Amino acid sequence: MAPRCSRPASPLVGLLLLQLLAPTIPYAACRELRTLLQLEAVVPPAEAELAAAVNIFGDEIFAQLSNETKPGGDPGLIISPYSIAQALAMLLNGADPNGTSYQQLEALFGANQVPLADLNQEFQALTAALLSSSQPDSGIRIDNANSAWLKEGLRWQQQYSDSLEQYYNATLGTLTTAQASSSHWWLFMQWQLAVNSWVAEATNNKITQIVTDDIVADAILILANAIYFKGSWVKSFPEELTKATPFHLLDGSTMQAAMMYQPLEERAVQVATLPAAVGNVAIKCQAIQLLFAGFEYAGVAAQPVGAVRKVAGAQLELETAEGPVDYAEALAACRSAVVDSLPGGFDSKAWDYSTSPINLYLPRFEIEFFASLNTALQALGVTQPFEGGDLTQMAEDAEGNPVQGLAVTEVLHKVYEKVDEKGAEAAAVTAIAVTTSAPVQTNPPVDLRFDRPFLFSIVHCPSGLALFNGQIYKPEEWGA
Ligand SMILES: *[C@@H]1O[C@H](CO)[C@@H](O)[C@H](O)[C@H]1NC(C)=O
Ligand SMILES: *[C@@H]1O[C@H](CO)[C@@H](O)[C@H](O)[C@H]1NC(C)=O
Ligand SMILES: *[C@@H]1O[C@H](CO)[C@@H](O)[C@H](O)[C@H]1NC(C)=O
Repeated sequence: MAPRCSRPASPLVGLLLLQLLAPTIPYAACRELRTLLQLEAVVPPAEAELAAAVNIFGDEIFAQLSNETKPGGDPGLIISPYSIAQALAMLLNGADPNGTSYQQLEALFGANQVPLADLNQEFQALTAALLSSSQPDSGIRIDNANSAWLKEGLRWQQQYSDSLEQYYNATLGTLTTAQASSSHWWLFMQWQLAVNSWVAEATNNKITQIVTDDIVADAILILANAIYFKGSWVKSFPEELTKATPFHLLDGSTMQAAMMYQPLEERAVQVATLPAAVGNVAIKCQAIQLLFAGFEYAGVAAQPVGAVRKVAGAQLELETAEGPVDYAEALAACRSAVVDSLPGGFDSKAWDYSTSPINLYLPRFEIEFFASLNTALQALGVTQPFEGGDLTQMAEDAEGNPVQGLAVTEVLHKVYEKVDEKGAEAAAVTAIAVTTSAPVQTNPPVDLRFDRPFLFSIVHCPSGLALFNGQIYKPEEWGA
């Protein structure tokens, strides 16, 4: 039977958990619960398909973003594909179903030919599955919020606001009129504050600003999603074992990272060794799953297998049997391999219990990432919403005439993520501004040391959705 998110095998603990948790979780996630309940494929196929599609487009956006930004220029690159997806799904609902914007957006979700109502229901059901895993008492919290803000004097088209409320549970807000002159500068401030303070509340103050005066001054409407996650590790890292340890940076230099440590018993965690390739060179990618309390979410850390080396004047390289390859490219190949292993809640052919004890070394980090997704989305074929003309189903004037010429000006994405001895905390916001236009076999312990740029994802086990997906280039400095 397929191991999914799993906790150490123990039928007694499993039974106890079953009694404690089963009534409250519709999709009992982890192996023992699922085995005991004889649950297979409990995530309905449509939702699982949406989760897989979101993972794939998230990986594509990731590839585009890391192409735009210099690898290692930021301390890390982290996105929340599902936050981006929900904001775009709200946009999709406002597009003419016969238009190009609609086609391009539905293609992004792999949802061609799927009726809009069905797609909306899949989003609603997937969100419900994510939220049903929130158990604040047992150390896991997840919030998801959507909102839509419209310039004063305009109205939402009835069907649009109905869909936003029904499927996306969106809060509808009014933006103060844009007719502010310099003597009414405070109107702008109020307008901006409304969106940003909503963001701050929805992310537990981890993100306090997403839009600026300029964006707000131009906007007719703004659509926003916010996700907040906080989870405690099932097995925390003893703080006294965190030590200063060298960590390789992409530019070939090294730093002293605050390296956490914990020994893990044989069969205590699930691991995977995934095949990947850089050009024609085959590499292997080593990944480990660390469960959060509640057993419904897991942190996944991964990196390419092999020694790293610095070449004078060049970026970090990975040694392989076929010669050295660029480490950043190997990391990217590894990321796609991990994403491919997630659908259905961790592919059972790839993921299994470790057959050896593991000495796990993982650095602490706290990273914020901010980017405009405009270029990345355009590179993925979503161009028409930026040109506009067919976003006709969103707003209307006081006489009920649809607002014409709406076009997207900005798709902004901001993510915060912190990993330490106790667990992880993460938040993501996506805002769309719209204006008129225009395996190991032996048994001695093995070291698993994340001492060079690595991958870190937070994954919802039952659906396999990568809620947060990141590449960590520079963790917390020792003593910082
Ligand atoms: C990254 O950019 C280069 C040059 O601009 C381009 O050739 C390559 O296809 C891009 N990669 C991706 C994943 O878009
Ligand atoms: C889309 O096209 C169909 C048939 O071609 C038409 O009946 C429908 O009214 C169109 N919808 C919109 C919103 O223009
Ligand atoms: C809808 O959002 C409100 C906050 O705006 C929240 O209190 C409520 O729990 C949400 N409902 C669902 C079904 O998620």
